[in-house]
Amino acid sequence: MRLSLSCFVRPRLVRQFAASMLAFLLMTACIPAAYAQEKQPTLLVDVDHRPAMSLDGEWHSIIDPYGSGLYGFHGKLRTTDGYFMNATPKPDAPADYNFATSPTLKVPGDWNTQRPSLLYYEGPVWYEKDFTYHARPGTHVFLHIGAANYRSYVWVNTKKVCEHEGGFTPFDCEVTNVLKDGKNFVVIAVDSTRLADGVPTLQTDWWNYGGLTRDVSLVSVPEQFVDDYDLHLRRGTTTQIDGWVHVVDAPAGASVTVSIPEVKVQTTAQVSADGRAEFHLQAAGLELWSPSHPKLYRVLIRSGNDSLEDDMGFRTIDVRGTEILLNGKPIFLHGVSIHAEAPYRTGRAWSEQDVQTLLGWAHELGANYVRLAHYPHDQRMTRLADRMGILVWSEIPTYWAIEFDNPAVLAKCEQQLHEMIRRDRDKASVILWSVANETPNNPVRTKFLETLVADAHRLDPTRLVTAALLVRTQGMTEIVDDPLGQALDVIGTNEYIGWYGYKPADADNTVWKIAYQKPLIMSELGGGAVAGLHGPKTQMWTEEYQADLYRHQIVMLNHIPQLRGMSPWVLMDFRSPRRVLPGIQDGFNRKGLISDQGKKKMAFYVLQKAYKDNAVGKAQ
Ligand code: GCU
Repeated sequence: MRLSLSCFVRPRLVRQFAASMLAFLLMTACIPAAYAQEKQPTLLVDVDHRPAMSLDGEWHSIIDPYGSGLYGFHGKLRTTDGYFMNATPKPDAPADYNFATSPTLKVPGDWNTQRPSLLYYEGPVWYEKDFTYHARPGTHVFLHIGAANYRSYVWVNTKKVCEHEGGFTPFDCEVTNVLKDGKNFVVIAVDSTRLADGVPTLQTDWWNYGGLTRDVSLVSVPEQFVDDYDLHLRRGTTTQIDGWVHVVDAPAGASVTVSIPEVKVQTTAQVSADGRAEFHLQAAGLELWSPSHPKLYRVLIRSGNDSLEDDMGFRTIDVRGTEILLNGKPIFLHGVSIHAEAPYRTGRAWSEQDVQTLLGWAHELGANYVRLAHYPHDQRMTRLADRMGILVWSEIPTYWAIEFDNPAVLAKCEQQLHEMIRRDRDKASVILWSVANETPNNPVRTKFLETLVADAHRLDPTRLVTAALLVRTQGMTEIVDDPLGQALDVIGTNEYIGWYGYKPADADNTVWKIAYQKPLIMSELGGGAVAGLHGPKTQMWTEEYQADLYRHQIVMLNHIPQLRGMSPWVLMDFRSPRRVLPGIQDGFNRKGLISDQGKKKMAFYVLQKAYKDNAVGKAQ
């Protein structure tokens, strides 16, 4: 099949598309990737506070299910002069594509919900955008991509600048040396194909939204720039701030100054040979961040010509026995799980309006906590949680049965964990890093996840590490004795009594046995209902059934002495290709307390009352 696009092309874009397609296919095909470049690590943090030129908006797009840019109709690579492709197409050779006359897609945004023909599309899409840029001398320029699902390959002015795998974390490609003063263009191939050795793997209970799903921008920084930092309140204190700043290309001894003007503190430290400067600040009168008082301070970081500002809250999070301690005091997490599904329009949530709606509903529910499932959400979510005082469980998509026996998959998980922590380590709202969801309990998987737990503790010793575990059911007893629990600070566990087995009322007589004297969070519970479908509470899919299920859950949860939090599944209905019951699911998981069109179900009000009356969990 030949890609039957326009024959009227701009030679430059033909060359670019051909070169890009070649490199993309080399990455993904069995052909030795002669032009592949090393993966670039995430480099920038606090990007939303740096001067940047947005590339959001309309991008030309070419849907390329067969990789036809370079493979002819017998499936052979069109090679001629050893460069695999005509560097200068023969004038009589009709080209089959043209970005300039191709339709556009909005960026940010998944492609699935932008065109009906793309709802189920899974594969490569080529994005192209022209832009004008005037770089200042003595600066580095990075192309910053907030997230692209699932694999990305990036060219600027026909030069490959980077690639990335992982659909929910940011990455940066240095473009300093390939930019021209004036007109430039960028081509990004995003391939949403699910991979057996991917993270997540082939099976998920959410829609595989593909594309440039978060912001794209050009960020310029000085030659020596701050690329990572950590400030946190030392556990057991209310005024001692410890931290470090990492500066790229700074000579040992270069100074870094950190200040918090509102509390009149400032310190200067010197970077060591590894580029890191460590410091301590004594901040008398610091107002601690908490859900009831989400106080944020403007923090200024300066080194050489680089200056960064951030808005940060200071608090401590810890465990003591089975208690979770926020600022030294026990807290119960009245929460809800949230998928990054856009209210009303559906598709991948990313905008300020999306996050305001989702966290606004959580706040209306009476939640002081949210589980952002099953992957890191847009940074706007954790920024808003910081401002609203909502505690956050953030997780990487180590979901269900990934290839736990594959070292390359462990490396992918470690990369995504690193990218998640690096982006949000300075957000007070984030208190829990989760390394897994409902993974099969076997020694290979446990060793794999213990490695991730150790990574999380090393990368961020200031937070708690958890995972959502599966329970073992014996009659009316639920047993949580997954060996991974030994390594976790907080035990998460998912249960669906009253939905996947048993009746809602069976929850009243269910006994829980937890093998660990650690805090327990019921990280998932619930059942489905179609908003507006009413009937007897014994009829599944009615709002009455779902509400009754929640009433019985609350009775059961109050019988679990070490329960310290809950994040019922799920705030809002979300798309899933696994949920196809006609007239009931129609491609949506209906366990939402709210429909995808914003209609609150009866169960929303049952849970809201329980939270408001402190009728579930130890009232703190
Ligand atoms: C699982 C899983 C969720 C899924 C839910 C369900 O626990 O973690 O991702 O959507 O159950 O069955 O609805």
